[in-house]
Amino acid sequence: MTSGGDWSARVGATWAAEWRRTERAFGDVARLLDDAIVAVAPENGIAADVGCGVGSTALALAAARPGLHVTGIDLAAPLTAIARERAAVVAPHTVRGAGGDRGVDFLVGDAAALLPTLAPLDLIVSRHGVMFFDDPVTSFAAMARAARPGASLVFSCFRAREENDWATALDAAVGVLPRSTGAYAPGPFGLADHALTQNVLAAAGWIGATATRHDVRYVVGAGDDPIADALAFFRRIGPAASALAAAAPDERAAIERRIVAALAARIREGTVAFTAAIWIWVARAGKPS
Ligand SMILES: C[S@@+](CC[C@H](N)C(=O)[O-])C[C@H]1O[C@@H](n2cnc3c(N)ncnc32)[C@H](O)[C@@H]1O
Repeated sequence: MTSGGDWSARVGATWAAEWRRTERAFGDVARLLDDAIVAVAPENGIAADVGCGVGSTALALAAARPGLHVTGIDLAAPLTAIARERAAVVAPHTVRGAGGDRGVDFLVGDAAALLPTLAPLDLIVSRHGVMFFDDPVTSFAAMARAARPGASLVFSCFRAREENDWATALDAAVGVLPRSTGAYAPGPFGLADHALTQNVLAAAGWIGATATRHDVRYVVGAGDDPIADALAFFRRIGPAASALAAAAPDERAAIERRIVAALAARIREGTVAFTAAIWIWVARAGKPS
């Protein structure tokens, strides 16, 4: 399973190389999450985007709430470097310094360690960035302590692996069918279990937590050759990537043939899309005990 240490090394560099394809895959997640965030975002104050990657959620929030100062935090320096470039290009008026204390900036490091330096926060958000903590109660508790009482937490994460068509199709192509043990393990499905996440949030000092389930399109291939586009993505990102890298040439070719068959079965009007099953969680920081 992917953990924090992987993100600051190999996985972060791979995501930086593939950021345009991951942005496309997360397009529908972004629309839902950004709406959920804006529904609770204050007009002013301080917000943080945990595991911000290339900064999309932070940038969308800064654009929707020009009176907020938004800080994106990520373990992977190559991703925050892209986030800073995007901030300068996409929304130069929101870069810190240009508009006083409002705007957006990006920090490299562990969110639980850096959030106290921004406290008290009025809003904490994350698009699929909070399921990689080694100790989720400790990290979510650090987030709660850094938040003003009553401040909102809004984040998305995947539901169960079995409900995520893109994951089961790739598992079948690789020939491995991982089973959840029910215990927490950091990784893309770390917070898939509703009861587990509810318990983690409650133990960490977040109150009134509610989750909404959504099934969204997860677009992995488009353009002149959507299947080649999607195959290039899955060679680097997702559950097939490490199996392909480790396989001998014959086995690699066989796995790729099975992936291509799965992609071909999902092509519609020039686009290859799977279904992603996600949660959007909303909670509030309780009073410190
Ligand atoms: C699946 S990616 C999502 C990135 C981005 N939010 C997006 O939606 O494109 C998860 C991100 O969380 C970051 N991350 C994981 N654990 C973290 C931690 N403890 N502190 C800060 N960032 C973390 C990773 O480096 C990675 O960029």
